[in-house]
Amino acid sequence: MNEIFSPKLLAGKRILITGGGTGLGRGVARQLVEHGAEVHLWGRREAVLAEAAAEASEPHPGSVHYHTVDVRDYENVDATMGAIWSEHGPLTGVLNNAAANFIAQTKDLSPRAFSAITSTVMNGSFHTTHAAGKRWIADELPGSVLSTLTTWVWTGSAFVVPSAMAKAAVHSMTMSLAVEWAKHNIRVNAVAPGPIPTDYAWEMLNPTDKSSVGATQTDSIPAGRAGTIEELANLTMFLLSDACDYLTGQCIAMDGGQMLAGPGTFAGLTSLSDADWQQIKETSKAASESSKAQRSV
Ligand code: HXC
Repeated sequence: MNEIFSPKLLAGKRILITGGGTGLGRGVARQLVEHGAEVHLWGRREAVLAEAAAEASEPHPGSVHYHTVDVRDYENVDATMGAIWSEHGPLTGVLNNAAANFIAQTKDLSPRAFSAITSTVMNGSFHTTHAAGKRWIADELPGSVLSTLTTWVWTGSAFVVPSAMAKAAVHSMTMSLAVEWAKHNIRVNAVAPGPIPTDYAWEMLNPTDKSSVGATQTDSIPAGRAGTIEELANLTMFLLSDACDYLTGQCIAMDGGQMLAGPGTFAGLTSLSDADWQQIKETSKAASESSKAQRSV
């Protein structure tokens, strides 16, 4: 049991996690349940969802429900959202977690491949957000939307171009709806986790054993390690709780400093020793002294 937050942090919350049958969504679900939430998992595969629901509901049996939904299909999303509202009650939060991605050279992508990724990430997040948001507004209820993005929304990323494009679009939705829906007490935020090991994504994003190829290598991360699902769950719970009602429109990176140390910065210097840094200091001091001396001439 996570002891950072009260076990009642999310009491009374009803939270939907899209793509909740696997990976990050599945891991976060259990933490939400442990902190008092009722959780609804959406995904395309019933058997996977049933297993995830059984696992996540262990701390509080009966608190996890699942629905087979393809978020790319608005009719399917809207009908299932309506069923949740009428059979369980209004949601209090939506976690847009469903994603699709694979590493490929962009020149080799087919239109179907592009669409498989963008329709899940971009259209799926819009469909789910829209279906919940219009109900919250009609019912005059507050709500909270949280989308799982990546730091590629700021930097772009080679070899995962459809994912980078689609996640940037969801970032734009986050900023736009934060403004449009603030008067309805609906908050819209996002998180951008760095690499966090989950079986499927890890396999997909590390297609070879060359560490420089995958998106998951830890030597480019100043913190020196990948993130954990517990850390992501803590941030998620904070954002979906009542702790920060004034926080909206933000995308919060949690990546051990990886993005800020990316290409074009001095990331390679993280492996230097104290002696190396001393030498750099002396060299740079000497250079600035010499420069000063030239200016005063
Ligand atoms: C090139 C590929 C391909 C590949 C599929 N396609 N895989 N092209 N390289 N590796 C092409 C197919 O040939 C087809 O095009 C088109 O994509 C659609 O493929 P389908 O298999 O029919 O689509 P679908 O069943 O919808 O599957 C979508 C999927 C699948 C993306 C391929 O992997 C999926 O559903 N994944 C969901 C989960 C997921 O990806 N999670 C990872 C998220 S990680 P043609 O033209 O041949 O018919 C993430 C960021 C992590 O988001 C960040 C870490 C730092």
